[in-house]
Amino acid sequence: MRKILLVANWKMDLNVSQGSFLVHRLQELIRLHRDIEIVLAPSMMALQPLSVQIDRRKFRLAAQNAYQKDVGPYTGEVSFAMLRDLVHYAIIGHSERRIYFHEDLPMIRDKVAAAVRNEITPILCVGETQHERTEGLTRRVLHDQVTTALHNLTTREVRDIVIAYEPVWAISTFQGGHARPDDVAVAMRYIRSQIAQLYGEHVATDVRVLYGGSVDDTTVRSYLEIDGCDGALVGAASLNPYKFAGIVDAAYRLQHELTTNED
Ligand code: 13P
Repeated sequence: MRKILLVANWKMDLNVSQGSFLVHRLQELIRLHRDIEIVLAPSMMALQPLSVQIDRRKFRLAAQNAYQKDVGPYTGEVSFAMLRDLVHYAIIGHSERRIYFHEDLPMIRDKVAAAVRNEITPILCVGETQHERTEGLTRRVLHDQVTTALHNLTTREVRDIVIAYEPVWAISTFQGGHARPDDVAVAMRYIRSQIAQLYGEHVATDVRVLYGGSVDDTTVRSYLEIDGCDGALVGAASLNPYKFAGIVDAAYRLQHELTTNED
């Protein structure tokens, strides 16, 4: 049984004290679950203070972004090298960064390589916009985003990364709808098939694939039930301690049911 991975992306919604307060509530509400990995992605400023606050048996940290060069004259940037002992994961290529900060395919490829070089596991976000979807370009977009991002990695490195399928139109900030689990399943299969073609079936099976886009405590189960879905990347609902604890609870119950059925 694979661990379910739940990632809370707090985006730019909480300052340091708000983040600290939320961690405090989450530590009260969420019990220790051996088979669920919970990752918090607060703002860059909150990473250091939260690293000493979190119960490390329950939570890990992720950066929401970092710069691809390790050192140098890049005023205002924080490198993956600087984050190396602070975070386990880094979200890379989130659609908000692709859209608002014009991160293109080569830049995302370099960020993925920088994360891996610094022993940080990339959570690579991929997904089509509404326009690309209506134009029938979903596969093309996923193909380009997945294959370029992994270009500089070895087979072994690819095996360890996490890919989050986040259709842009289903992310709450873009006011889209909910993605149907059947459609998500098709996209996830396609992503794994691309990896299988390039790196082999074993790697395609080992890579973890998450779903993200308006996931909350009432919908998470429908996505986690998808064959090959390893977890969820949660935005808005992760800001509410009850909703996020509910998401963890739903994942735990599903995990528990599946293990009982296996016995
Ligand atoms: P929402 O859960 O608010 O739709 O955000 C998804 C997301 O972008 C997570 O990275």
